[in-house]
Amino acid sequence: MLVSAKEMLQKARAGHYAVGQFNINNLEWTKSILLTAQECQSPVILGVSEGAGKYMTGFKTVAAMVKAMIEELNITVPVALHLDHGTYEGCYKCIKAGFSSIMFDGSSLPIEENLAKTKELVAVCEHLGLSLEAEVGSIGGEEDGVIGAGECADPNECKQVADLGVSMLAAGIGNIHGKYPDNWAGLSFETLAAIKEQVGDMPLVLHGGTGIPADQVKKAVSMGVAKVNVNTECQWAFQEATRKYIEAGKDLQGKGFDPRKLLAPGAEAIKATVKEKMELFGSVGKAND
Ligand code: 13P
Repeated sequence: MLVSAKEMLQKARAGHYAVGQFNINNLEWTKSILLTAQECQSPVILGVSEGAGKYMTGFKTVAAMVKAMIEELNITVPVALHLDHGTYEGCYKCIKAGFSSIMFDGSSLPIEENLAKTKELVAVCEHLGLSLEAEVGSIGGEEDGVIGAGECADPNECKQVADLGVSMLAAGIGNIHGKYPDNWAGLSFETLAAIKEQVGDMPLVLHGGTGIPADQVKKAVSMGVAKVNVNTECQWAFQEATRKYIEAGKDLQGKGFDPRKLLAPGAEAIKATVKEKMELFGSVGKAND
């Protein structure tokens, strides 16, 4: 069932668990995530970066594929199709393509411009029944060409954005996309507490979910994080399983070169990673909450 992320995140916030956003890259990724969500009876958010959307030939292709797959696989759990780190133009393209949820990442803009564009998009999304994520304080590291310094968000700016009526707020608390450096200081729970103080019950989004120790994820969820984004970890799982298959020479045995066989271990590895994360986030069994 393709739905906006608004209600699922409000339920997660109230129930003290988080919904996972798993980024998709192709059909195998999408199928693995949807089947795991159904198996775990968990709500799920499929994240699509602008780069991944372009790779899959465009947002219209992505929306058509996801909608058809939900139907053909009989997926009954709530699924949101969400633009990840959208530009202003990208947001409108996804709205037009039929996405059910949008992220406008205005974190690199002056706060006045971020506020003005977010406000406009809140009105558009509200009118169409879509959820909108906004961002304050850039997430560190690089994702699909979006590079952030990783500063902690200013709680007052978070309040200004939250007051616009967004459905969820991504606020930097020392989190980074991709691999965390060995000297990473960990999440700033002080910043998270200060943000929560300002934004109340607003569902908060934790980007850079790959490699954050489980105890920190759980603490963040207990303090108001209702959505955790995971991308790199699924890529590593896919890569490792595919490498093993080829290194074992399985692609050279019988019809092991068949793409359906070649990609199967990677697809299974994604399923295992997604399941593990859903268990950690506490969303298993919450589909019909
Ligand atoms: P990771 O790649 O670090 O898991 O981050 C994903 C993310 O935040 C997508 O927006």
